Amino acid sequence: MKKDTVTITDNATGKSFELPVTRGTMGPRAIDISRLYRDHDFLTFDSGFQSTASCSSQITYIDGEKGVLLYRGYPIDQLAGQSTFLEVAYLMINGELPTAAQLEDFQGNIRRHTMIKESLKGFFKGFYHDAHPMATMVAVAGSLSAFYHDTLDIHNPLHRELAAYRMIAKMPTIAAASFKHSISEPLIYPKNNLSYCGNFLHMMFSLPSEDYQVDPIAEKALDMIFILHADHEQNASTATVRLSGSSGANPFACLSSGITALWGPAHGGANEAVLRMLSQIGSIDQIPKYIAKAKDKNDPFRLMGFGHRVYKNYDPRAKLIRQMCHEVLNKISGTGDPMLELAMRLEEIALNDEYFIERKLYPNVDFYSGLIYKALGIPVNMFTVMFAIARTVGWVAQWMEMISDPDQRIGRPRQLYTGSQQRDYVPMKKR
Ligand code: CMC
Repeated sequence: MKKDTVTITDNATGKSFELPVTRGTMGPRAIDISRLYRDHDFLTFDSGFQSTASCSSQITYIDGEKGVLLYRGYPIDQLAGQSTFLEVAYLMINGELPTAAQLEDFQGNIRRHTMIKESLKGFFKGFYHDAHPMATMVAVAGSLSAFYHDTLDIHNPLHRELAAYRMIAKMPTIAAASFKHSISEPLIYPKNNLSYCGNFLHMMFSLPSEDYQVDPIAEKALDMIFILHADHEQNASTATVRLSGSSGANPFACLSSGITALWGPAHGGANEAVLRMLSQIGSIDQIPKYIAKAKDKNDPFRLMGFGHRVYKNYDPRAKLIRQMCHEVLNKISGTGDPMLELAMRLEEIALNDEYFIERKLYPNVDFYSGLIYKALGIPVNMFTVMFAIARTVGWVAQWMEMISDPDQRIGRPRQLYTGSQQRDYVPMKKR
């Protein structure tokens, strides 16, 4: 049988060598270049990792051309339609769907860890009321490493499991506390008889002085959005968590590094940027002006919520969330929300414009998530925080997969050096 290899010919020297080709269960084959530098004195250059698999993983599969997203083999639409966020979390971490007893046990473990230490509450007071909640999240999530460090052995699977429960359970509590601090309201304790999303809504919107009823539509919508955002293979924040974790760093510190990477407008910050963009556009008659700006290479303006590094087809999550968006807006804020009308018109115009068609720029999941959050009364600066709560499940699952891999090594990318050749130091007087 023919060996699965590729042959590289160095035209400068006329020499050829073979590189092994490796296969996953689905998706493109990968050229194994791990010995390329050692054996052949070559590096590969791939700015932005457009053709580089940085690890092997069994968690999430994406086919960007066909618009497919699978978690542990299950299509995202089946999970979003039939599962719950915590069941998906179990699936992500453990690899299989839980039985009823396993799910009950898992949910119980999450519930047990929703509280944060009383002394941690002091951290929030250190922030000015106008601090961006993502800044607070980066700091407070990272500070959990101070509470759980010496007692945590990442090489012990039970310790890893406990860290996973803590991260998934405490993120909504920290997120809601960041919000409450920013509006000078008392921090609300979790209520463990509520669902994961119901509890989050309770901590966000209730007051100690009043009764609060969780809206089931809001609870369901949030649960589905969280499922859609739970993982997305090696995106910038997940790759950051893996890279930080590869050095053996504390997992809560790794979580904080993931939140940091997520914050940028090209990644998780896009949902916030979409709403700001829609406000900036203001009305339907202004759309052509902004489409022209987006197409102008000399103008930094981009249509936020359009385009994706991996999906060169409709984002499968966007299809599901678009439907949910209409449902929520009809049931919660009534029809005729001018922001939604503006968004739908923008979507239609962009989808029929040659520039966007040619570049396969479709609306992504964040084009719609912000509109739903707005309808649920979640402030714009909390949008990326919502993404962070959901993605914590993916970060945790990927971190656990990496640490439990016996072949795991510290991540250490190389570079193509383009600086000065070696030169001698010039004393100040001679410069
Ligand atoms: N508006 C206008 N033009 C765009 C856009 C956009 N949103 N996105 C890409 N382009 C153009 C870009 O100018 C380039 O044109 P040309 O080939 O003529 O130079 C072409 O499309 C390819 O773009 P790219 O920058 O090479 O694509 P990328 O894969 O590096 O970037 C992206 C992907 C998501 C960063 C980018 O599409 C973008 O900035 N989108 C807006 C921000 C956004 O919605 N981000 C959320 C991503 S989904 C959530 C997540 O998973 O984090």
